[in-house]
Amino acid sequence: MLQYKSQSIAKPYFIAAIGLFVGQILFGLVMGLQYVWGDFLFPEIPFNVARMVHTNLLIVWLLFGFMGAAYFLVPEEAERELHSPMLAWALFWIFLLAGALTILGYLLVPYAQLAELTMNDLLPTMGREFLEQPTITKLGIAVVVVGFLYNIGVTILAGRKTVVNLVMLTGLLGLAVFWLFAFYNPENLVKDKYYWWWVVHLWVEGVWELIMGAMLAFVLIKVTGVDREVIEKWLYVIIALALISGIIGTGHHYFWIGAPDYWQWWGSVFSAMEPIPFFVMTVFAFNMVNRRRREHPNRAAVLWALGTAVMAFLGAGVWGFLHTLAPVNYYTHGTQLTAAHGHMSFYGAYVMIVLTIISYAMPILRGQEAANGRAQVVEMWSFWLMTVSMVFITLFLTGAGVLQIWMQRYTDTPSPFMVVQEKIEMFYWLRELAGLVFLIGLIVYVFSFFVKGGERQVAGVADMA
Ligand code: HEM
Ligand code: HEM
Ligand SMILES: [Fe+2]
Repeated sequence: MLQYKSQSIAKPYFIAAIGLFVGQILFGLVMGLQYVWGDFLFPEIPFNVARMVHTNLLIVWLLFGFMGAAYFLVPEEAERELHSPMLAWALFWIFLLAGALTILGYLLVPYAQLAELTMNDLLPTMGREFLEQPTITKLGIAVVVVGFLYNIGVTILAGRKTVVNLVMLTGLLGLAVFWLFAFYNPENLVKDKYYWWWVVHLWVEGVWELIMGAMLAFVLIKVTGVDREVIEKWLYVIIALALISGIIGTGHHYFWIGAPDYWQWWGSVFSAMEPIPFFVMTVFAFNMVNRRRREHPNRAAVLWALGTAVMAFLGAGVWGFLHTLAPVNYYTHGTQLTAAHGHMSFYGAYVMIVLTIISYAMPILRGQEAANGRAQVVEMWSFWLMTVSMVFITLFLTGAGVLQIWMQRYTDTPSPFMVVQEKIEMFYWLRELAGLVFLIGLIVYVFSFFVKGGERQVAGVADMA
């Protein structure tokens, strides 16, 4: 069933991604509980440690997902075997081992001691949100990414050059380039924050959108049979809009860090346009599915593709827009509204696009065109359980955020931070409850890979769309 033997390297990447995803959610639940029961697992797992583990696992498993996606789609698009499957295997183990050691380091050694042990003083890069990794881990990530880019780059350049492959490669190159700013850690706090966003913002609101667009286009070509030329035109429009709005849109993080005033205007105006490419992605996905030329037996993959487009627009587009204008952000900055947006955007865009390609590719990697009917039904249950509970997590955090902004910021008589936190405790309990349902959805998802038999055809969303 696999068109090229070397595509099979995608499988361990996808399995590792799912495994780390489970870990990410467990630590999310630990923190969610610590929000309402401060001593939970103290001193074994302090909140700040759980937070690093939660967010770093997220980033690492998404990177595993992107790499797996590249190893799957690049050979098929280039119409040739991967340049070096051996290298891909070696990098897999290096990345997994470095990742596991880093997480163990966070959990077993106090952070300051970890910094000392890993000789952070030689090139200090630790201690910043999302970039907590020891410098040697950061170097390891850079080495893995360079080896990976070499491998797929040579494959792409030697083979058929499709728009999907070139956009994917450009996105991944951008990912590598902006990673370099993780090594830049100036003493000046304004500069530190300024360039920190070149990793964080220019990843998720820049180059990752290219990766996402390419993955979505690939799956849509496969499951709808719509002409490649049509899909490529959409992809061009999406990535152009993403880059035009997203690059200068970085300014929506420069409002209050001591950067020049003009960023209030530039950041507000350009980031206000950032929802457009996400909206176009939604229209694109539904349009292609409506114009489909074939009924692909993998209905679950079609559901994931449409779901990604909708949820990315909601999480990034709508919840991003809510707080992106400077006069609004003045009140909302760094509140639970930010966390609400962070959760739904990361889930809707990047978690779901990785699960989309896994849904499409995994059955093929296991020698079938699509999973059996019963397994697909179970997988679709997991889609709804995870997606609906993420909507609730977002709504509860938004509720908490609005009250927090109201009592602590948008008032002439602001209450102290902790006083407000106690008043909005109910929302944190509800968030934890929704998180538990999310975990159940994830368990159902993992279980779906083991469901056997059932030749029954699955009625998919495509029939309704
Ligand atoms: C998939 C794409 C996106 C992802 C994954 C994402 C993720 C995040 C995360 C995690 C944060 C919190 C960062 C921190 O720790 O301070 C954040 C902040 C922010 N995001 Fe997004 N975002 C995305 C797209 C957008 C878009 C399209 C907009 C605007 C329309 C937007 C507007 C903002 C703003 C204004 C902040 C700062 C919030 C504050 O001041 O506290 N984001 N985003
Ligand atoms: C795929 C699902 C999830 C994704 C993509 C995700 C993503 C994130 C991100 C990006 C942050 C940093 C947010 C920021 O700085 O604004 C974060 C923090 C956090 N997450 Fe999650 N998360 C997920 C699931 C969960 C679940 C199920 C729970 C627990 C019920 C949870 C609890 C938390 C908590 C408590 C924080 C810390 C917030 C803070 O510092 O105040 N997450 N998560
Ligand atoms: Fe941003």
